[in-house]
Amino acid sequence: MSKKIGDVILDVHNISLRFGGVKALTDISFNVREHEVRAIIGPNGAGKSSMLNCINGVYQPQEGSISFRGQTFKHMNSRQVAEMGIARTFQNLALFKGMSVIDNIMTGRNLRIKSNIFAQAFRNPFGIGGAQKEEEANREFVEHIIDFLEIQAFRKTPVGTLPYGLQKRVDLGRALAMEPQVLLLDEPMAGMNLEEKQDMSRFILDVNDEFGTTIVLIEHDMGVVMDISDRVVVLDYGKKIGDGTPEEVRNNEEVISAYLGTSH
Ligand SMILES: Nc1ncnc2c1ncn2[C@@H]1O[C@H](COP(=O)(O)OP(=O)(O)O)[C@@H](O)[C@H]1O
Ligand SMILES: [Mg+2]
Repeated sequence: MSKKIGDVILDVHNISLRFGGVKALTDISFNVREHEVRAIIGPNGAGKSSMLNCINGVYQPQEGSISFRGQTFKHMNSRQVAEMGIARTFQNLALFKGMSVIDNIMTGRNLRIKSNIFAQAFRNPFGIGGAQKEEEANREFVEHIIDFLEIQAFRKTPVGTLPYGLQKRVDLGRALAMEPQVLLLDEPMAGMNLEEKQDMSRFILDVNDEFGTTIVLIEHDMGVVMDISDRVVVLDYGKKIGDGTPEEVRNNEEVISAYLGTSH
């Protein structure tokens, strides 16, 4: 592998999460290195989405801690985590269906803009004119993302009318508009046909390459996982049963038996 993987950027330490009597996650630890594509796999109900929800502040685990660039963060809500540089797409799309592609991606940009209100004040000491310049720069950035994701033809199209595969791409664009350091993707290829999966795989690798974004990815398709990830965490019934390179994980007995009899 030619790309350079860096130091640990995200460290998940002994996380346990319960919903009443349901143990969604039990004592999970793993790390993510800068510039890595890190996959989380496991059967349905294994705790994968819950894990991402703990990282981005949607759920507060009862035990354990998570640190980002060496700083432990606790009790942060999802907006605060986003402002720190961790963006997220959801298993079920959370786009504004009636709004155009460009406006949806702009909502991601706006989240970032609000977070940088002080920086903005310094960048824009000339009031309205400066704000307009900032708005122009943001539009330009969004256009760059639209070009990058090859969705120019649909810029003005209401998102709800697009095929599912393209909607997923817009969702990725909205997360990218935040210029995240870490991007959490929850089943970005679910419900896609083979060609759409190949396209999405290529975009994820290009984001990783061109923007240097660290990627944490939940994915069911083992072929995709083997192709694009550097390291893989395997969850089963809320426990970690494997962690290593795709090759190591594929040959792990416990992982093989967890997957036997499942459709994944
Ligand atoms: N908000 C919630 N309330 C109650 N139980 C939940 C909630 N979220 C997840 N769970 C439970 O936690 C377990 C793990 O779910 P989830 O993280 O969605 O798994 P996966 O994404 O691997 O399919 C499941 O048993 C699920 O029913
Ligand atoms: Mg899930």
